Amino acid sequence: ATTSVKLNTGAIMPTVGLGTWKSKPGEVEIAVEFALKNGYRHIDTAAGYQNEKEVGQGLKASGVPREEIFVTTKLDNPDHRNVAQALETSLSKLDTPYIDLWLMHWPAPMTRDGKADKAYDWLDTWKDMEDIHLAHPQKLRAIGVSNFSVEYLERLTKSARVTPAVNQIELHPSCPQDDVVEYCQSKGITLTAYSPLGSDNSPLLKNTVVNSIAQKYKVQPANILISLQANKPGHTVLPKSVTNHRILNNFTIVDLTDEEISDLHKIDETHHFRACHPAWTGWGSIGFPDCK
Ligand code: A2P
Repeated sequence: ATTSVKLNTGAIMPTVGLGTWKSKPGEVEIAVEFALKNGYRHIDTAAGYQNEKEVGQGLKASGVPREEIFVTTKLDNPDHRNVAQALETSLSKLDTPYIDLWLMHWPAPMTRDGKADKAYDWLDTWKDMEDIHLAHPQKLRAIGVSNFSVEYLERLTKSARVTPAVNQIELHPSCPQDDVVEYCQSKGITLTAYSPLGSDNSPLLKNTVVNSIAQKYKVQPANILISLQANKPGHTVLPKSVTNHRILNNFTIVDLTDEEISDLHKIDETHHFRACHPAWTGWGSIGFPDCK
């Protein structure tokens, strides 16, 4: 596995980043500081996680120079009509002069009261993100998307001036999303795997295939699941933790054999325990898929 990948902008993105979805203010700033003091150089947050201010505090407290850290944040669903202002708010909360990567969190414009904003087209949101990136590439260094299926990526790339640098999606053995992975690899779009462990209380950590490979390498099951993503070409991966010893542990990646990768892929391939594959019910409306 490589320790970093090169984005289609030329920028370098460290392979392992700290995920902060569900990391609460009060704990997240400590987790970010601890991660950075122990080798992490990639932190992922989102306006929607409501922790950007504390993530920013962690960045500062680490003492690691800003230019050594890759910071990703995301445009929230109710901000599709408010792109420029939303970026300024994220910059100010993170207390940083620039963002390494800004993602459209979901192709799902919403109103402030949480309903689908069907009158608004997320393609216009992308145009606004492109405008800012093209005019201010030092302030907004790369733009990308999250939770995009192939259908959505095809619609985007047909008219995009800027190919997304990244598509951040849920990826683990119970959520392989092979079609999305293949499409992104063919277009030079880096994949970032979120919930690589299968999120909270994941049955994958108890899986016998995962555990036997972990024993072979003398690492924890979590390391195998994180390594699975890190070993795939053009992938980065975001294990989330607010527990110091896990943050430390999760930074260790092992090189898996092709056979081990294929064995891990066979786990649970017919029985997803998470609704992981975005299948939207229509442009601009939000719809979550059934588990396969
Ligand atoms: P916590 O944050 O309390 O340490 P994912 O990255 O797939 O979304 O998974 C995150 C979940 O997995 C969180 O509940 C996190 O708990 C837990 N977790 C993170 N690292 C490990 C680990 N090394 N072993 C077991 N559980 C872990």
